[in-house]
Order: sequence, then C-alpha cells, then structure tokens
Amino acid sequence: MSSSRTVYVNGDFVAEADAKISIFDRAFLFADSVYEVTAVLDGKLVDFDNHMSRLARSLGEMEIAAPLEPGDLRAMHEALVERNGLREGLIYMQVSRGSADRDFAYPDGIQPTLIAFTQEKTLTNSPFAEMGVKVVTLPDIRWKRRDIKSTALLAQAMGKEAAKRQGAFEAWMVEDGFVTEGTSSTSFIVLADGTLVTRQLSSAILAGVTRRAIIKLAEQTGIRVDERPFSVDEALGASEAFLTSASTVVLSIIEIDGVKIGNGEPGPVARQFREHYLSEARKG
Ligand code: PDD
Repeated sequence: MSSSRTVYVNGDFVAEADAKISIFDRAFLFADSVYEVTAVLDGKLVDFDNHMSRLARSLGEMEIAAPLEPGDLRAMHEALVERNGLREGLIYMQVSRGSADRDFAYPDGIQPTLIAFTQEKTLTNSPFAEMGVKVVTLPDIRWKRRDIKSTALLAQAMGKEAAKRQGAFEAWMVEDGFVTEGTSSTSFIVLADGTLVTRQLSSAILAGVTRRAIIKLAEQTGIRVDERPFSVDEALGASEAFLTSASTVVLSIIEIDGVKIGNGEPGPVARQFREHYLSEARKG
C-alpha cells in the first residue's frame, strides 16, 4: 500500500495519515453509505458520467443528501488523479449519511460525509486477462436492494474470501437456481450460437457501468444480447463465460466450480470485448 497518498475528506485534500472521520459516522456504525469505484486509464477517468449517474440514483434511493454537484465531483476526482500522479488504477469514493449519536433513525438535516482516495492497479496488463480466472458458486445471502451500491458488503467480502480459499478469483452468487452476479462483478456467458447472456437489471443485481458499456459494444458489433437469468448448469455448458467491473475491465472465466468452460482457455469474445472496451476508454 502506498503510504504517501493525498486523499479527499469533506472538502479537503490531506495526507492519508491525517485523514479523519468520526467514530459516530453512520458508515462505520451502520454501513449507511454508498460508493463508486471509477477506473483511471492513462490518467483519465473511465465512464465517469455513468458512475456519477449511478451514485445519484443510490443516494436518491437511500435519501442521502448529495454532497457535491456532479461537476464538482469530477473536479475532485481529477484533482486526486493529478495530486497522486495516478496513471492507471482506481478512485474509490464514498458518501455516508453523516455522523450522529448512535440511533437507527437519523436526525433531520444530517450532513453527508464524502471521502475519496486513489489506488494504483494494473488494469491493462493484468496476468488474469491472459490466463483467465476461476470462479466458484455460492448462495446469494445479500439483502434485497442490490441495485443500491451500498457499502454493506459483508456477504460479498465473505464470498470473495471463500473463493480465494478455494483458489478462485471470484464467487458467483446463486439465488433460486440462477446466477445473480459476482461478489464485485457482473456475470456474462456466451452461448454456442454467439448470443451474449447477462441477467436483466432489477433490484437483484447492481447495474454495472462496465455491463452497460459491454452491452452497447455487443449491439454495435451485431452480437445478439439476451438479458435474462441463467443457471449454473447453463453457464457450465456455455462456450465462454466472463466477468466485468471497473476494477477488472473484462476477465475470461476458464473454470466454474472446477468444471472447464469451453476448452478451458480464455475465449475470443471476452478477449475482443476487453480490447474494444480498453481502446474506447483510452479515447476518453
Ligand atoms: N464493484 N456487481 C457488484 C456486486 C459489484 O460490486 C460491482 C462493482 C459490479 C460491476 O459494476 P461496475 O462495472 O460498475 O464496476 C457488479 C466494484 C468495482 C467494487 O466494489 O470494487
């Protein structure tokens, strides 16, 4: 971990060691907060407006006051990139309802807390992109408003840890026999006839910003897209499977629960989406 970052806390850019948040912050006590993770490529924000639209929606659903206007949020993100000399990686930002004496209900007029920080990460030359990744499946034990990008991520953290212990990169969560999504990524499969399948948007999943871009690329290149639930069995029989997120872009899945997908190598469709998405992102 870099120890000399400049981070953002409620209007100020400070050294990370000096960043302070109240222990009464409701993010800390209740996970009463929402977040966004935006990729940075060649020092530029990727798909920023769509991340901010989703943030606005999450804030609206939670009735958390918006801490800054969209233009100011962009300026804050750009300042973080600049001050930290970030070329490639991520910006994490979080808005919590604010701090107040511990009570499940909150006072009127509570002021939101806004924090953000950079994290260096190799997005383009990831070895996982070359090798593909393994996935395991787990029951989806999350709450029922997964469309809100809330920091209540305990089920996802437990799922990711379970995947790691089984030598996998990600866990796909399953509910009523169908895959919802990965713990921190959207799930896709490619059928033998070339159709791209990903679950339709609802409160069962997060509306992935990368998902949206991939669907658009598919439509532009004449790939049929079927937005519907799919089962683990259907995924096991697919010709390709892959996952998408701001922090991983597109990663081929070569194995689910120990069963090889396709020929067990990263497939051409996922590879093309990855390259296409990265080249579009670079154009800005
Ligand atoms: N996670 N589904 C879930 C549950 C997620 O947490 C994420 C992203 C996605 C993909 O969304 P997007 O394409 O907008 O990144 C889907 C982020 C990266 C995280 O928590 O770090």
